[in-house]
Amino acid sequence: MALIAPSMLSANFLHLEKDIDMINNSEADWFHLDVMDGRFVPNISFGIPVIQAMKRATKKVCDVHLMIEQPENYVEAFHKAGADVLSVHIEASIHLHRTLQHIKALGMKAGVAVNPHTAINQLEAIVQEVDVFCLMSVNPGFGGQKFIPQTIDKIKALKQMILASGSKALIEIDGGVTLENAASIIAAGADVLVAGNTVFSAADPVAAIAALKQL
Ligand code: DX5
Ligand code: ZN
Repeated sequence: MALIAPSMLSANFLHLEKDIDMINNSEADWFHLDVMDGRFVPNISFGIPVIQAMKRATKKVCDVHLMIEQPENYVEAFHKAGADVLSVHIEASIHLHRTLQHIKALGMKAGVAVNPHTAINQLEAIVQEVDVFCLMSVNPGFGGQKFIPQTIDKIKALKQMILASGSKALIEIDGGVTLENAASIIAAGADVLVAGNTVFSAADPVAAIAALKQL
């Protein structure tokens, strides 16, 4: 059974409170909040004041995924906004080890997000420092994209690395998770499933979350 993290990127931004309540009253475990700067990824989403507002309504873990350049400059701001898990991209982080220490020193869980082109062996030197690996199974920037099948082998390799190192890091899979492919993603070793389109385009989002949770 995996943790389920609905992505608010696919929510109705005119009625955020309604969608947050839906998630509060569902079997979901985390709120996945996607921050995009139009530089690291070719899209702009929402930022600090919106997360601060959403935090007041959420009753679950706030999992903030920064798709921004120089994420190290915003660790404190997202902590103040209410992040419980803060993920920065390895591809955007020159001093990743220092950034992870900073995140943990503020009491948050430290996440490292990993683009589809980044090899798993690049994570070896930081595996002990990481609480959550957010493996991208699409190229980040947009919801509703198709799952990249090679991710399955990356999950297996990362799981091996985590087990061999004795680290307790969770593997979170982000992008293109559906009711059809979720079981094979969990079987490969995923601990957390992000789901945007699968939850919010469902006729019954609470039932879609329950169906993912049951796998
Ligand atoms: C993509 C974001 C994802 C996205 C997932 O850049 O990081 O979190 O919202 O959406 P779906 O589940 O629709 O692929
Ligand atoms: Zn994300």
